[in-house]
Amino acid sequence: MVIIRPIEANEISLLTKLWIEFIQDPVGSDRRILPTEENVRTWMNFVNNLIESGEGEVLVAIEDNEFVGYILYEFIRRKPLKTRYGCGLIHDLYVRPSWRRRGIGRRLLEEALERMKTKGTKCIELYVLSTYTPAIKLYEKLGFKEDLRRMTLFLKENTRD
Ligand SMILES: CC(C)(COP(=O)(O)OP(=O)(O)OC[C@H]1O[C@@H](n2cnc3c(N)ncnc32)[C@H](O)[C@@H]1OP(=O)(O)O)[C@@H](O)C(=O)NCCC(=O)NCCS
Repeated sequence: MVIIRPIEANEISLLTKLWIEFIQDPVGSDRRILPTEENVRTWMNFVNNLIESGEGEVLVAIEDNEFVGYILYEFIRRKPLKTRYGCGLIHDLYVRPSWRRRGIGRRLLEEALERMKTKGTKCIELYVLSTYTPAIKLYEKLGFKEDLRRMTLFLKENTRD
């Protein structure tokens, strides 16, 4: 049975394997972030700081002591300028390919939304590839609506290769 719980500080290095899969996902990611050792260290520091400061959390989905999915979020996203209201941010949501379509993504998201609500988060943002229907459907089912569009102009061919 898959259980969902907050990650513990000494488990963050185990999560890097899933993060590397996430940033390289062939359909869910634009693969812009490179899986370099330096990036892995930077990401781990970022996650550590978020958890230690209490500004964010990671929930992991676990089956037989193996991480099969996770969600990473900030309760209120830090911004350099003052805003009228703050929003939480879902940074990553990932379920390993062979574990998909079993309700794990939905459970991770529902649990994260509940925890953010309890912390007083008033709105929640996330970024998703416009071409990635599975994630868009999941987000829409839980009430997310598109309210901003990022547009990219590639000035050089093969930039994405
Ligand atoms: C998006 C993702 C997290 C979904 O995880 P999952 O565990 O497979 O999702 P669930 O089984 O909980 O599905 C929940 C709903 O999402 C939608 N969905 C999920 N996969 C789908 C697919 N392949 N096609 C169509 N809809 C899909 C469905 O509406 C589904 O509800 P249903 O099962 O009642 O039809 C997973 O596909 C993933 O990790 N993708 C790669 C990483 C990524 O892109 N993450 C999102 C970044 S913003």
